Amino acid sequence: MFKILFIYILLVIINKSINSQYVPDSYIEDAFHQAAQDLEAEYKLLDYDDLINKGSLARKKRQTDKKDPSSLHASVLKTTAESQKIHDSFKIALKASQKLKNNVTLKQTGIKLRAPPKFCPFAFEPSCTEPVKYRQIDGSCNNPGNSLLGKASTPFKRLLRTAYEDRIQEPRRTGENGQLLPNPREIALRIHDPMDTPARISHYGVIFGQFIDHDFALSAATGFGSSPLKCTCLTDNEDCINIPTPDMDMFNDQLCQVLTRSAASFDKFDCSVGAREQLNTITHWLDLSHQYGSDQTTANKLRSFIDGKLRTMNINGMEREFMPNTKTGTCVDETNEELCFEAGDTRTSQNLMLVSIHTVWVREHNRIASALKRLNPQWTDEDLYQETRRIVIAEYQNVIYKEWLPVVIGEDLMRAFGLNIMHKRYFMGYDQDVNPHLSAEFSTAAFRFGHTLLRSTLTKTDSELRPFSNLTLGNIMLRPTEAYNNGGLDSICRGLLIDPGTSFDTHFTDEIQNHLFETGAFDAQTKRFSLSSINIARGRDHGLPPYNDFRKFVGLKEAKTFDDLIEIPPNVRERLKEVYRSVNDIDAFTGATSEIPLPGSLLGPTFSDIVARQFRDLKFGDRYYYENGNNETIRFTLKQLNQIRRGTMSRIMCDNLDLKFIQRNAFEPPSNENPIVSCASLKKVNLKRWRGEPLPVRETFFSNNFNNNFFF
Ligand code: HEM
Repeated sequence: MFKILFIYILLVIINKSINSQYVPDSYIEDAFHQAAQDLEAEYKLLDYDDLINKGSLARKKRQTDKKDPSSLHASVLKTTAESQKIHDSFKIALKASQKLKNNVTLKQTGIKLRAPPKFCPFAFEPSCTEPVKYRQIDGSCNNPGNSLLGKASTPFKRLLRTAYEDRIQEPRRTGENGQLLPNPREIALRIHDPMDTPARISHYGVIFGQFIDHDFALSAATGFGSSPLKCTCLTDNEDCINIPTPDMDMFNDQLCQVLTRSAASFDKFDCSVGAREQLNTITHWLDLSHQYGSDQTTANKLRSFIDGKLRTMNINGMEREFMPNTKTGTCVDETNEELCFEAGDTRTSQNLMLVSIHTVWVREHNRIASALKRLNPQWTDEDLYQETRRIVIAEYQNVIYKEWLPVVIGEDLMRAFGLNIMHKRYFMGYDQDVNPHLSAEFSTAAFRFGHTLLRSTLTKTDSELRPFSNLTLGNIMLRPTEAYNNGGLDSICRGLLIDPGTSFDTHFTDEIQNHLFETGAFDAQTKRFSLSSINIARGRDHGLPPYNDFRKFVGLKEAKTFDDLIEIPPNVRERLKEVYRSVNDIDAFTGATSEIPLPGSLLGPTFSDIVARQFRDLKFGDRYYYENGNNETIRFTLKQLNQIRRGTMSRIMCDNLDLKFIQRNAFEPPSNENPIVSCASLKKVNLKRWRGEPLPVRETFFSNNFNNNFFF
């Protein structure tokens, strides 16, 4: 035993000395400098400037014309100066590793090449003062062992090995038998055809899933500076992964669906050079970052700096407040004053259902801030803002783990993964070694389950719960005015609460399957998108391995033939067989949405597992998880915590909308088991437990030490 240990230590020492002796840092750094110059030259050659300008010309044109559908899609993507620098640093590292590939010593030692600090965007960690009572806006300083974990602009993690065409970064193109993989739109047409079957989740519950998604996932898109790349059907660029229109498509009036690749990143903070990872531009935590922002500048812009409140606006003399509006250029008809709403996330106005959920949580913030001010008149604006934010995030986490997640994955998985909330005690399971990051498998495939649950229409409903108007999904995308006209948000929310979502299956509703972002701009190259085909193409862009690998990971039997796919109904298996040449080619999103849901869960076994696993990591790996009791500075008192646990989504809606009645669990449609009750009968969170709450001495905090001393 000792002998083996001795030999091992000797080998490590020899390895290290070979590396330091024969591969001087300056040699590696030189290769990186040369690679950086090559990339700069390439950019000039490619004339990215031209591509971006084309985009802004198109934007100017849109002031008068109908909006281009591709600009609506672009509004749900994001490129920042930071994401683009990380993307460039990864590209430089790949080029440098090519230059160094013949270096004998590197080859002999097998040591993984790492970008030198100057070329590693994650080399400078934020310095954190300890302990800090409130979460940082950018998500850093949560884990005492690694201040970057969960921070905005850090990579997704992987549950499975990536599957790129060239093993490093090219999207998968070739199937097992050497033939081309089927076109994503063709798969969409054959497998994800439209059909709506009612499910046991309310449409409100479905859109709440999108709301959660916008809190923790927003992949960076490739671009230049902070502008995303604007692909056209004819652009010949490795970052454009357009989906060509197949012959069988009934919409043969467009050449392609334009699609921009997601930006690249190193997969680890040590910048070791490996397969391409993608970058999450927002915080990974369940922390309402889409309300408060994922960076300090945005957060400050959203605050009123009076009594701890968020900025809001009043419309047409209505008593209830709305989010402020902003000219982003993305809402459909800005010439008619249809400005988008502003919040912490760029996708807030994507649809009116989402706007209604955002508005409720902004109102909840201001409602709590007012109540705390009454209880503690001596508190400053900063005290009120921070403590209110802390309470509202706790209410939100409570609603997710107590009410929403059990509807989605069912009680059995809640128990198996330790996801149920406690009753009277603290949760003591915080584990510093849990990596809370969203996994690519979760954000690129599993959590997109919500796309199959969407219904085509929204029923506006009056205060007596009588439907009075039907709007299609297309009518409510990036069109904010219905939020305050014709019954406004109240009538939208009543409809969302009563209408069921549609079941988890391969079927997508027609509005997003065949008409996504259609604006009637018939001179545009892409006149409409198909969301299921984007999901499939995105899976390949992000190097997701095929469905069979997902099966093995979650403990299902590896399928040798299509007939082994026993979790999939025989008729769907037959269709898969017609589309894919080999069972090993099936795209993860398509395979997993084909599965029959598990008993008690809305989802099949593959997505149930990946979703449960992710929410476990977000709970056990979050030092600020609202029930966590193992840090005295951070935790709520037990009395406060037990008040927060009384809260429900229905109560929060009653407090912030003009509703008289509501079902007990807002995430399930009304039924005998989930009766409609009067708002007055629902339990309230008693904020008196915060009277005289001791506030922390203000910490000086230095965050956002992103390495600006960079390569160019
Ligand atoms: C009207 C409703 C919705 C629309 C129009 C919509 C549309 C989109 C679009 C266009 C994307 C970007 C696709 C890409 O380029 O890769 C996207 C991403 C995504 N959507 Fe949805 N979606 C909706 C609802 C939902 C729901 C209900 C959920 C979950 C319950 C969901 C989960 C996701 C996730 C996880 C992503 C990936 C985010 C990222 O990593 O950037 N979406 N959605």
